[in-house]
Amino acid sequence: MAQQQAANRPTVVAGFPVNYNDDSVGSYTLPDLLKCADGQPVTTSKVWTEKRRPELLRLFEEIQFGKMPPAPKKVQFHVFDKGTPAFNGKAVRKQVRVYLAKDTSNHQMNLAVYLPANAKKPVPLLLNISFVAYNQIIDDPGLLIGEVWNKEGKKVKADKPTAFGKMNVEQFLDAGIGFATVYYGDIEPDFKDGINHGIRKEYLKPGQTTPAADEWGAISAWAWGLSRALDYFETDKQIDSKRVALQGASRLGKTVLWAGAHDPRFKVVVASISGEGGAALSRRNYGETIRHISDPSRYLYQFAPNYHNYADKVDTMPIDAHMLVALMAPRPLLLQTGSTDYWSDPKGEFLSAVAAAPVYKLFNETAPTTNVMPAAGDTSLLMNHLGYYMHDGGHTVLPADWTHIIAYLQKYL
Ligand code: GCU
Repeated sequence: MAQQQAANRPTVVAGFPVNYNDDSVGSYTLPDLLKCADGQPVTTSKVWTEKRRPELLRLFEEIQFGKMPPAPKKVQFHVFDKGTPAFNGKAVRKQVRVYLAKDTSNHQMNLAVYLPANAKKPVPLLLNISFVAYNQIIDDPGLLIGEVWNKEGKKVKADKPTAFGKMNVEQFLDAGIGFATVYYGDIEPDFKDGINHGIRKEYLKPGQTTPAADEWGAISAWAWGLSRALDYFETDKQIDSKRVALQGASRLGKTVLWAGAHDPRFKVVVASISGEGGAALSRRNYGETIRHISDPSRYLYQFAPNYHNYADKVDTMPIDAHMLVALMAPRPLLLQTGSTDYWSDPKGEFLSAVAAAPVYKLFNETAPTTNVMPAAGDTSLLMNHLGYYMHDGGHTVLPADWTHIIAYLQKYL
């Protein structure tokens, strides 16, 4: 992400020009959120929940992220650190190996979990999905040194510092919230042909080498892995598994949006700078578009192959990002963006929240009631059930964002 910040306004990507001029966005019509495929209008939360929502979920599976397999019959866990005092006794730390496949020699996902040491009852928890191994983002000498994928597509020891900075775990504990994190590469590597190495490989049919048009891309695989982490939380009596929030940034912001939409056990989602393929409207031609993101030279492997069909005809796509946002309703969702993160189109995320608001209204939950975009730093829409907040700055999660996120979690988790 650090590199992303420097190259935040590329003008041509994958051979296609990028528009950053609001006046050149053009007009577009969003597909109707509140009309079922058979034409029935959605006027109640019941019709939404029982009919429209499942319809849309299926479309996101088939067109955008790709279908993921059901949960394995039995997920095996190995709690190899059963509860060690950490951060001067403020936390109890656990480390858990989640075996994603039956054969436990491969596809192991390591979870670091910190719980407030003074908790008298099961605690709510934020589950973060990270670009690096947990020992690289948390200053705690007791952590296992993980493994990460290098540029050559090999797994190497995660014993080097990274550009991603450190996570301040104590701020969650001080707020009475547990914190857990997982490295996305433990589930599926983040490169083209990663399917040959990650969990998706286990589900290939004999002779199959690439996903079918509607099968899971890497984002669905990461989302699937997050659900397996939640499977573990359900077995841990110190964690209130009905109160688990998800957070991720960038492609992992897209991932947590999709994970929350797909697995309603997650209570709250915080999607940071999720951009195109996340909360930003695809029909809005500003910054990255489907054409850019789904180009086979870039990130098509993160999506269902079908997504690329819409590279040149986004107007015919039966879904758009406001529908992905609405799939979270009525559960709390916070969209966190950055004012100079032009590539990710923070305004496209705001307009998406505005367009999704009617679904939150069906449930009498709070959502944006204005078409006027809040300025950088304006917190007036932050604390809604469907919250939106834009910091003054670029493609990142700032320390002050975490303060807002924790306030949001204290209210809704
Ligand atoms: C690229 C990509 C974005 C993505 C980002 C990230 O910029 O085009 O869609 O969000 O990487 O994950 O940092």
